Amino acid sequence: MEQYAIKGGNPLVGEVEIGGAKNAALAILAAAIMTDETVLIENVPDVRDTNVLIQAMESIGVIVNRIDRHTVKINASHIHDLTIEDDYIKKIRASYYLLGALLGKYRKAEVSLPGGCNIGLRPIDQHIKGFRALGANVRIEHGLIITETEELKGNHIYLDVVSVGATINVMMAATMAAGKTTIENAAKEPHVVDLANFLNSMGADIKGAGTDVIRIKGVSRLHGSEYTIIPDQIEAGTFMFAAAVTKGDVMVKNVIPKHLESISAKLLEIGCEVEESDDAVRVVSSKPLGHTHVKTLPYPGFPTDMQPQIVVALGLSLGTSIVTESIFENRFKYVDELTRMGASIKVEGNTAIIDGVTRYTGASITAPDLRAGAALVIAGLSAEGITVVDDIKFIERGYEDFHIKLQSLGAQIEKVDTERELQKFKLKVG
Ligand code: EPZ
Repeated sequence: MEQYAIKGGNPLVGEVEIGGAKNAALAILAAAIMTDETVLIENVPDVRDTNVLIQAMESIGVIVNRIDRHTVKINASHIHDLTIEDDYIKKIRASYYLLGALLGKYRKAEVSLPGGCNIGLRPIDQHIKGFRALGANVRIEHGLIITETEELKGNHIYLDVVSVGATINVMMAATMAAGKTTIENAAKEPHVVDLANFLNSMGADIKGAGTDVIRIKGVSRLHGSEYTIIPDQIEAGTFMFAAAVTKGDVMVKNVIPKHLESISAKLLEIGCEVEESDDAVRVVSSKPLGHTHVKTLPYPGFPTDMQPQIVVALGLSLGTSIVTESIFENRFKYVDELTRMGASIKVEGNTAIIDGVTRYTGASITAPDLRAGAALVIAGLSAEGITVVDDIKFIERGYEDFHIKLQSLGAQIEKVDTERELQKFKLKVG
């Protein structure tokens, strides 16, 4: 089983290029099937989640040509099946974006019902509520969500919780519904805006994305488009925190600094220097890290997808910090692993109380999910001695060439597949 072997202690120094946003790519790839014309999408990250979604699309007859590592051409004029098999949804929840896309285009779709996952229960009642409001019948049979209708009709939809997934799914279906749809209490994340911009580039009429009221005038057809996905806010934030935790100096390039404001604000608060330019952010960490309090919130609040990374940093800060997770109920699972590295953290319900320690020590640990996995790697980079991270398949779901980018910043990290490779790494790093 592949693992990351890490020898901690090197400050990360240098420049790193951020790739396309995974969570925007998942929505945009799915939406690309809503036209019969060819769509060209650039800046698609080459990560497991996008690749599995592409396979799910191919399984129903979508033709996907990879022009280069980050550019795909999609033609969905020969879709022969409106059912997305269980295998795909098990590997990647976001296959359910094909529900909104297929329902919008063909008025019918069947997708396996996603279960809970490592970060919580993750219900999809708001997606279903939205589809029903547009006039679709939705039923759950034999583990499938089956949705169909003769006619989709615009409606006024109030989401009971701010949900990225429901906003995206309902926006896609409403794009091709007759008449006007209003989505209230919509998610405002950058990837929601990116999807709306992409759909508009295909001829949709969507206004207000990025605010909590999205207004959509349905169109009867969408056309081909060429589109470039925005940079990944969370990949960028992860490298920013890696710089902070390792006492480094990293220029994080190809970003939209506005999307990183909540992350930059917390780094400043704990004593890092953050310099913004047009499309880059430099993080310098030269002083002991200070403590702070954080609550995860929908955008523009501090992202839940950055919660483990900030906990790793606060675990090394002076004093006591409190981190409250308000989006997912089970997102502190990695704390046990971090405790094995010497962290002093008590979790009570959705709150972590963190007493800063002076250092972490290397240990054998397991990545419980994508972002926690990346955070544990960062902990390993700052730790004394060797850390071995298992289950890196989770990290590879969302970070392209993670260890290679870290190596380019001076980290001692390698991907190893056997005990022999691990021993070789240990000998090499001394
Ligand atoms: C998206 O998940 C992201 N995934 C997640 O990224 C991210 O953590 C999350 O948004 C929050 O920002 C993708 O974009 C593919 P939600 P999503 O619907 O859409 C509740 C990562 O690491 N809810 O905004 O599933 C839900 O339980 C990942 O890249 C309902 O109650 O999240 C949660 O408490 C992991 N009913 C809250 O809303 C619903 O119908 C927000 O979830 C839907 C959601």
